[in-house]
Amino acid sequence: MNTIKDINLNGKRVLIRVDYNVPLINELVEDDFRIKASLPTIRHCLNEGASVVLMSHLGRPKGEVVPALSLDPVAFRLEELLDREVMFSDDCISEDAIGLSKQMLPREVHLLENLRFHPGETQNDEKFSQQLAEHADIYVNDAFGTAHRSHASNVGVTQFMEETCLGFLMEKEYRYLGEKLSNPAKPLTIILGGAKISDKIELIENMLPKAQSILIGGAMAFTFLKVMGKNIGASLVEESSLGVAEQILAKVEKMDVSLVLPTDVVAAADLSGDTPWRIANIEKLESNEAGYDIGPETTLHFELMLSASQTIIWNGPMGVCEVPEFATGTQAIASIVRDRTEDGTISIIGGGDTASAIKNSGIQDGFSHISTGGGASLQMMSGKTLPAFETLLQYA
Ligand code: 3PG
Repeated sequence: MNTIKDINLNGKRVLIRVDYNVPLINELVEDDFRIKASLPTIRHCLNEGASVVLMSHLGRPKGEVVPALSLDPVAFRLEELLDREVMFSDDCISEDAIGLSKQMLPREVHLLENLRFHPGETQNDEKFSQQLAEHADIYVNDAFGTAHRSHASNVGVTQFMEETCLGFLMEKEYRYLGEKLSNPAKPLTIILGGAKISDKIELIENMLPKAQSILIGGAMAFTFLKVMGKNIGASLVEESSLGVAEQILAKVEKMDVSLVLPTDVVAAADLSGDTPWRIANIEKLESNEAGYDIGPETTLHFELMLSASQTIIWNGPMGVCEVPEFATGTQAIASIVRDRTEDGTISIIGGGDTASAIKNSGIQDGFSHISTGGGASLQMMSGKTLPAFETLLQYA
């Protein structure tokens, strides 16, 4: 696959697929993590003398114009971050928008309106792809968040472009979630959390043979603990995944892998955070109490396992971390993983919920890689080849 460094950009028009699917509040960008992540590629193109056309989706408008999902607020934020004017077109394939792209001077930036206002985007429609391609000569994919989708802007469009390549962000995601995970430095520890085992079965199947230890927090731990016959009080159990949990435990038994489950939790009668909570040993949970976070003893066990790791992969929060009372476990693990990274361990954090949980814990920097993709990072960790990479391999 070509990367952006392989391409002569001087005087060229570059069409970059970015992922600006960011949360908005009152028509302002609430979290600009993904916008900031796109800046190195944009700046590189501008410095090399290219003009830059940016395209993205926002939300799921299902092929219709939904004003609340306009990318206009993103243009505003991008302008601040780049410290230069960003032209905005209110339709991604209108004559005006394409005309504007064709007249752009080197180092100008043009953001197109939400791709998903047209049904052709998610349908990977050929005509729509061709219209997008009219904006530029060179295509750069830097939208890891949609790399698992087969859409016009990351698959269809590539066949109509003179040259295609990966941007810096895609390259980094590929390096960590593709190359480093296929042959990780050992010992490898996987930290799993979140509510459901069913969301992560493929990840577990893919990574089990490579891992030396698996640390499980979040509500999914209770499904495993129930299979093991432990007391779990009123904690959440994914009944439909009890069989899968049993199979995973049986596999682990035959392998040289340590699977570590919580021995204590932060327990309460409900998850509002207003009702009294306590640290409880799992065995001592009352029948009306559920675990909403890992406890201090569990955190210590996890820390011990992490201290020997050369690679750490983390997917899923340790507790209901939107509620401050149940966020301590996630915060503590984030700080331990960051310290390990400082000592030379490679740490790879999944996107989506995991990235938000870590951000909310106040520790955002100091990891080797925090993915910008939720579904896409899960699929890469599950060992799948994503359509966006497959396509660029074909045309590069
Ligand atoms: C994401 O937020 O995970 C990406 O932008 C992909 O969005 P999608 O799930 O709507 O395709």
